Amino acid sequence: MSRPVLRTPLCDLLGIEYPVILAGMGSSGTTPAVARAELVAAVSNAGGLGVIGGAAFPPDELRREIRKVRDLTDKPFGVDLLLPTLGQLPPASGGGEGAGRDWRELVPGDIREFVLRLKRQFDLPDVQPEAMPRFTPDYIQRQMEVVLEERVPVFASGLGNPAPFVPDLHRQGARVIALVGNVKNARRVADGGADVVVAQGYDAGGHTGRIGTMSLVPQVVDAVAPTPVVAAGGIGDGRGLAAALCLGAVGVWVGTAFLVAEESPLDPELKQRILEASEEDTRVTRIYSGKTMRNITNPLIEEWERAGVPTLPFPFQGAIIREVTYAAQKAGRKELLMNPAGQVAGMVRRIRPAREILEDMVAQAAEVLARVLPSRVQASPP
Ligand SMILES: Cc1cc2nc3c(=O)[nH]c(=O)nc-3n(C[C@H](O)[C@H](O)[C@H](O)COP(=O)(O)O)c2cc1C
Repeated sequence: MSRPVLRTPLCDLLGIEYPVILAGMGSSGTTPAVARAELVAAVSNAGGLGVIGGAAFPPDELRREIRKVRDLTDKPFGVDLLLPTLGQLPPASGGGEGAGRDWRELVPGDIREFVLRLKRQFDLPDVQPEAMPRFTPDYIQRQMEVVLEERVPVFASGLGNPAPFVPDLHRQGARVIALVGNVKNARRVADGGADVVVAQGYDAGGHTGRIGTMSLVPQVVDAVAPTPVVAAGGIGDGRGLAAALCLGAVGVWVGTAFLVAEESPLDPELKQRILEASEEDTRVTRIYSGKTMRNITNPLIEEWERAGVPTLPFPFQGAIIREVTYAAQKAGRKELLMNPAGQVAGMVRRIRPAREILEDMVAQAAEVLARVLPSRVQASPP
């Protein structure tokens, strides 16, 4: 079968064949990153842009993953990191105010009590994960150094503003992508020098904002023009890709649809839950990270939300919930683990190679745009 053709300015900007980007899906808390070398290379080799979900990779592991991608493809690829506002983060390990203190001492007693109660309620073993949350300014700085040293072709920030790193990235010819969930942040990252703004809507899996994709994309397109915009959140097939282009986007950033790719390393049981989910089976919660995150819902989410107990700010909530999820993982209780996925989970039904997911998406979008939509436009009678 001949390969479908669908080109937008994004293809020239990033040096790719199709305007489809694999979302940089990072670690699911206790399970490793989903967008790892095999899936990343599969998407890049199929003509899209694979992006490593690098957020939870310590610097040396990130370097290894980048090199693994290079062993598997000579096509462009990217690395996605989270760049939260540095002032809101815990101090670097080994220095600064609070260094050397166990962060658990800073957790309010009632939240700590509640977490211990959850462990008992779900009959989980009394095992303890490592003490310190990873996201410190020092950790992020060292991750960025790896991205620069390895001369990664595309850098994506999944959170925060990449502006401080843009000059160095541009100097070595890298392109910079920044994810946003509202117009204010879109303007901020575009002003900061991002080459592409990803407008990610409420439907999305993982960390997500409050504005629906359909409303957000055209508003971001207008706000940051002429900076190109890519749509994210709820794009699962060619109809979604075509719709994104109609809204003024030049491409799509796709997470959930690739979560169930053959090359995705997601735990088979968590993958199966996504395949079985309906459009109503996800829930936005702060319990896993402290920021709003869309997950396949589970008894742990339901219990915390029912109890109405407040959550800690990012990244401390991720550290405190690990007390429960680490124990759940040790006990093989996968139904309690974080399983981020978007509302589009309801239309993801089969495990397929990433290439097939991508090529079907492109072919269907081309069909909609070239034949279905033009056939609906009638010339008005004279
Ligand atoms: C399992 C999972 C992990 C994610 N991890 C990250 C991440 O580490 N960094 C990031 O920028 N976005 C992350 N996201 C959000 C995606 O980048 C993307 O915006 C979202 O998946 C798009 O919506 P969709 O799932 O409907 O395709 C994650 C999403 C999922 C489903």
